[in-house]
Amino acid sequence: MDGKRSFSRRGFVGGVATALGYLTLDPASRAWAQSATARAPRPKLSTDEYDTLAKLANNENPYGPSEAVMKAMTQSFKYANRYGYPDGGITKAIAEHHGVKEENVLIGSGSGEILDVACNTYLRNGRKILSSEPSYDVIFEHVTAYKAGTIRVPSLPDFRQDIPGLVAAARAYSRDIGFIYLCSPNNPTGRIVTKQEIAQLLDGIPRDMPVLIDEAYFHFVEDPDYETSIPHVFEGRPVMVTRTFSKIAALAGMRLGYAIAPKEMISDMRPYATGTINAIVKWGGVAALTDTETQAKVKRLTVDLRKRTTAELQSLGYAVIPSEANFFMVNLRRPVPPVIEEFKKKGVLVGRPFPPLMEHLRVSVGTADEMSRFLTAFKEIVPGARTAKAG
Ligand SMILES: Cc1ncc(COP(=O)(O)O)c(C=O)c1O
Repeated sequence: MDGKRSFSRRGFVGGVATALGYLTLDPASRAWAQSATARAPRPKLSTDEYDTLAKLANNENPYGPSEAVMKAMTQSFKYANRYGYPDGGITKAIAEHHGVKEENVLIGSGSGEILDVACNTYLRNGRKILSSEPSYDVIFEHVTAYKAGTIRVPSLPDFRQDIPGLVAAARAYSRDIGFIYLCSPNNPTGRIVTKQEIAQLLDGIPRDMPVLIDEAYFHFVEDPDYETSIPHVFEGRPVMVTRTFSKIAALAGMRLGYAIAPKEMISDMRPYATGTINAIVKWGGVAALTDTETQAKVKRLTVDLRKRTTAELQSLGYAVIPSEANFFMVNLRRPVPPVIEEFKKKGVLVGRPFPPLMEHLRVSVGTADEMSRFLTAFKEIVPGARTAKAG
């Protein structure tokens, strides 16, 4: 197996014909090394400094929680001193929102906790996670923490995930795989896996192989070929879908996410969940689920700003990966780490490097003002950008 060859050396090959020859079969050590380069500790800034920065690094919602959500959270502060407080019926509200039973819902302190719990539950006995490369790198940190390994299938040349490649790897390594992690829209590329491809994946892999489909950015998608995978949870297969209140509902700092999964998967995972979700966000979450008007507005503003910003980058001659999320990647055609530092000097925080895409910069979509600060900085930092012609 060609596990030692680095992705950048072999280039962006992708495709099922090459997938098995090229996929990376990593021990925990490489996953750790990669995540160590990818995720520097978050900078400690004073509140004044923090407030002035254009925050385009973490795919957050720049508009903050809606009025209805703020009201619900403010009213629930009276429970701050309690353990046995009314929680607004958050699990029931999530279940009803999706038309499922409460036994199919597991809430976590952010969907990040759910990913952690899934790793703890399904990566025992040396089992590995099968995923695309690149994908949400924090899952690989969890993998490392459990001393498990990863099997990663390179994305296709257009940065879509290689579904036939994932199927082939799932079959070839079925005994080693604890679960498949599929992020759609994928972080960091923003590309989706279509509903047809999800069906293709589920049809192709062993029926008893657990699959986690991460829909953190579900709410931003416009492509009609995209659909939630929640119906697949009820096909008698170990399929789980994760969602978060951090993005569309702007509650990243408050921490609330959840899994929708078959009852048996929820029971297997529950013992590993901490249950440390605060009273305030439970009430905020209930209010957010019904506040569809604000969500539609956030989606409209975000998608519009993403399209305007990426169109300008393209007119400056820089290719952008087509995104369906609240972030995008622009190809700088030069190593990205020093560019990230230059942006920081200008008060613009942009995304960390996502190996193996070391020349692509991930930019979250902020407010109109933040995007114009980003574009101004881009023209100053990236040589030739100011004068480049459309291409
Ligand atoms: C793809 C993906 N999944 C999960 C998460 C975790 O989000 P949270 O723990 O805030 O719910 C993130 C955060 O950025 C993400 O990008």
